[in-house]
Amino acid sequence: MTVTKAVIPAAGLGTRFLPATKAVPKELLPVVDVPAIEYVVREASAAGLSNVLLITGKTKGAILDHFDRAWDVEALLEEKGDLTRLRAIRQSAELAIIHAVRQPAPRGLGHAVLCAKEHVGDEPFAVLLGDDLIDARDPLLTNMIAVRQALGGSVVALMRVPRDQISLYGSAAAEPVPGVVTPELPAGSVFRLSELVEKPSPAEAPSDFAIIGRYVLDPAVFAVLEETAPGRGGEIQLTDALAALAQVDPAAGGGLHGVVFSGRRYDTGDRLDYLKAVVRMALDHPELGADFGAWLTEFVDGKDRDSSQ
Ligand code: UTP
Repeated sequence: MTVTKAVIPAAGLGTRFLPATKAVPKELLPVVDVPAIEYVVREASAAGLSNVLLITGKTKGAILDHFDRAWDVEALLEEKGDLTRLRAIRQSAELAIIHAVRQPAPRGLGHAVLCAKEHVGDEPFAVLLGDDLIDARDPLLTNMIAVRQALGGSVVALMRVPRDQISLYGSAAAEPVPGVVTPELPAGSVFRLSELVEKPSPAEAPSDFAIIGRYVLDPAVFAVLEETAPGRGGEIQLTDALAALAQVDPAAGGGLHGVVFSGRRYDTGDRLDYLKAVVRMALDHPELGADFGAWLTEFVDGKDRDSSQ
């Protein structure tokens, strides 16, 4: 069965970014002139996932407004003949069919995914974290979907990180799957996973592979999530459910693989990573890139700082 649905959890509290996220969802923080979550929906749409379910929560209503038509602003821009901006504000409403469900309380990523159960039904589906940006030039989701088609079960994205950073992520023990799994991926980039741990200490970490915010899940995950007790931080952890799913018989939708990603990725819920994302995207921006790049070079050379003193 092909994957057509994407679930985008965006109901977290964003405490790392307070006070900016007191009233504004972190998923709407702009990365240059586009909110972070629009890049995520663009990625889902580019991978052929035109059915998008947003998991939202309290204070997150503006996310839905962003993906709705804005007739009043559109009329104004039309009147002024500002077709570039008109296209830009229409784009977010045309990327996909957007659905939404509210997570009653932020009880963890696993709980957020469980809120998608009725919408997803009995199909494999993708999960893209609403604050996690993957550079559009670095294909990941399409490769993960191809691995799911080839091997069944569920698939996560893995990134090698320095040992001292592994406690920021979930990690897993990983055995390479021999040979070429799909023509899109070189041999050695797909791993069979076991022993998943959420935010392990460097000593406990089963490997230096971190699980990052893209998943292709078998619907068997829902039954597992229903049985998953709150784990680290008192939250229902998706990593704990995936650890259990890795042990389930493949005939019953179990089994877990990882695809190694080595491209550009930013956690915009983390302030430092957010700043890096803004700088990178600003340098690539068709209108701003050249001027921003010139200023940044001066700034790094100390010229701009000297002249402003
Ligand atoms: P994070 O752990 O990055 O989000 O979850 P958070 O809890 O908002 O972060 P901090 O620590 O308070 O700053 C990853 C993704 O899962 C969503 C978040 O919105 C984010 O997109 N999430 C997390 C939910 O939808 N519900 C939850 O209960 C937790």
